[in-house]
Amino acid sequence: MPNLEGKVAIVTGAGRGIGRAHALALAAAGASVVVNDLGAALSGEGHDDTPAQQVVEEITGAGGNAAANGENVADFAGAQRLIHQAIDDFGRLDILVNNAGILRDRMIVNMTEQEWDAVINVHLKGHFAPTRHAAAHWRERSKEGDEVRGRIINTSSPSGVFGNIGQSNYGAAKAGIAGFTLIVAQELQRYGVTVNCLAPNARTRMTEETFDMGAPADGFDPLDPANMSPLVVALAADDAQHITGQVFHVWGGAINALHGWDAGELFARDERWDADALLHELVERFPDGVAPPGMIAGMQAAGGQSLRAQ
Ligand SMILES: NC(=O)c1ccc[n+]([C@@H]2O[C@H](COP(=O)([O-])OP(=O)(O)OC[C@H]3O[C@@H](n4cnc5c(N)ncnc54)[C@H](O)[C@@H]3O)[C@@H](O)[C@H]2O)c1
Repeated sequence: MPNLEGKVAIVTGAGRGIGRAHALALAAAGASVVVNDLGAALSGEGHDDTPAQQVVEEITGAGGNAAANGENVADFAGAQRLIHQAIDDFGRLDILVNNAGILRDRMIVNMTEQEWDAVINVHLKGHFAPTRHAAAHWRERSKEGDEVRGRIINTSSPSGVFGNIGQSNYGAAKAGIAGFTLIVAQELQRYGVTVNCLAPNARTRMTEETFDMGAPADGFDPLDPANMSPLVVALAADDAQHITGQVFHVWGGAINALHGWDAGELFARDERWDADALLHELVERFPDGVAPPGMIAGMQAAGGQSLRAQ
């Protein structure tokens, strides 16, 4: 395992599920971990300090260093307090894992304004706010002459990169997080900070109703949340200093470095198209029409696995 001793990590939404697995894995690799979790319901409502506290106890019980934080990651000032807590409690910040998230699924025709706003806010602003304050900290350190090896690891979703019915709010936020990753990776490279992204698959309270696959009685469980975390630990290592701007799809032991939007079909002319000629060309080049393949097909092409039992 890469040695992360002396490094300080923040994992948001680390009170349960995938974030908890990341926090435990980072701590096992030697990092001190700030375990952030609002302790919200799956829909984002409520506040409970217990989940974050329990993960801190698990880490300290195993001999690691950890501290709890109950801030809402989508609160700009709260996110700043979170970043400052890592520096105050452990003297520095090296790794920020943006993982906190909620769900409010609904078909677009019925989606309420609140369902849209809440999901966009927790995911997109909840990635922006901690990233913004961590970036300011690393820029300051870099300007002071430190050799910064900062790490940001974001959390997208197969829903965001392949598109899942019933999740226009969530998928739009998760696609936004993949785009955010590409841009922030380019902006922060000059300060020695890498920015990557996971599109995970795990059995948690978020997916327990979606996945038909229960845990196997014995042997490898591809949907164990802990399968998501070796990638986080690997990306956090000093040796991964030049791996940035990537979105990784993870299913069990299958990890794809995804290709996002690529150049695709080219419809080229040396002058402006007129709409009639363009329509003719579109119909000719797509004789059977064209439509997104959907999330299951995307996942099968990626990890060779489907969300549902075969
Ligand atoms: N489980 C999967 O298969 C899967 C697939 C794709 C993406 N994801 C993403 O992975 C991340 C973790 O999901 P999970 O499955 O572990 O879900 P989870 O519900 O088990 O954990 C999410 C945690 O985030 C916390 N949280 C919610 N809003 C918060 C806020 N505003 N501030 C701080 N903490 C907050 C919750 O209290 C919860 O403990 C999410 O971003 C999710 O969208 C999960």
